[in-house]
Amino acid sequence: MNILGIESSCDETAAAVVSGGRSGPPRVRSSVVASQVAMHRPYGGVVPEIASREHIRFVTSVVERALRGAKIPLKRVDAVAATAGPGLPGSLLVGLTAGKALAWLAEKPFIAVNHIEAHIWAAFLDRPSLRPPLLALVASGGHTELVLMRRLASFEVIGRTRDDAAGEAYDKVAKLLGLGYPGGPAIERAARTARREVRLPVARMKDGSMDFSFSGLKTAVANARGPEGGPGKLAAGFQRAVIGALVAGAERALGQTGARTLVLAGGVAANAALRGAMAELARKRGAVLVAPPIDLCTDNAAMIACAGWFMAREGTRMPLSTPAAPGWNTGARPAAEGAAA
Ligand code: KG4
Ligand code: ZN
Repeated sequence: MNILGIESSCDETAAAVVSGGRSGPPRVRSSVVASQVAMHRPYGGVVPEIASREHIRFVTSVVERALRGAKIPLKRVDAVAATAGPGLPGSLLVGLTAGKALAWLAEKPFIAVNHIEAHIWAAFLDRPSLRPPLLALVASGGHTELVLMRRLASFEVIGRTRDDAAGEAYDKVAKLLGLGYPGGPAIERAARTARREVRLPVARMKDGSMDFSFSGLKTAVANARGPEGGPGKLAAGFQRAVIGALVAGAERALGQTGARTLVLAGGVAANAALRGAMAELARKRGAVLVAPPIDLCTDNAAMIACAGWFMAREGTRMPLSTPAAPGWNTGARPAAEGAAA
């Protein structure tokens, strides 16, 4: 089965082809990502209008390159999967519409994919032997969730951020410290070279829940910015606090669920210090950590195609009227035809 995946939920236009026999799992045949980072950098963040226009500019060539790279013509594609949400409405519409048009043209099933669930599916590309039950920590620019997958394709959110996402906190703090955009890699670099560190508070939920909170940390960084508070020291303190909170949440979730497999997913999972801390946690708890390579953690379409592959195997197909779902919750059913976006 060959699946074409398309991703355009935020600021990367991406297309990929995955292939695999029915016993699976699939493997990546091609994966093309056109990043818009340079376009948004002058504004210090993603400008939705620019993002939509850039997706329109690149989507056709990105899909063509993915098909050519996989040496699979459209007529040999068995289903087309595209991100329907969550994400920026105008951005989502571009990839979603392209995916529907290609599915219609090829007379093949169309599958709408949830972007956050797809971040978790990426782990199956990295570790073919991966099986549920597993606990996933998804930390991206818009989401920070602890997700329990008891059975294949079942997603139960057992913890989430109550305010900012971890990636959002990285981006806002980087802006505050004048470290530029995107914030994650900039803070990671500054923290790595810092010789000292400002201690910052880690927000812990007192009610035993597995939720997170990162907005207080952003305020703490703003307040700690004195004349001698160089960006490196604050970046290092911020990063330690974020990672401390993520590890504490994951540890609590491992304890409460009894899961023995921990998946690290989403753009923030590209962070080397977080990967190290999670590896340490897994070792301590006797769990197995699956942290896919960085290009499978940050936004890509291989994860969308992989999600599509697992759904296509179950015979899933969705109507071409499936709307974009900017607020699509992890684990919820896709929005139905005619529902408001
Ligand atoms: O999953 P992703 O690529 O896009 C969304 O779905 O949002 O995640 C993007 C987020 C951004 O907030 C970015 O700053 C963060 O991931 N990020 C990182 C690193 N690389 C990307 N955060 C911390 N350390 C990194 N190395
Ligand atoms: Zn993402």
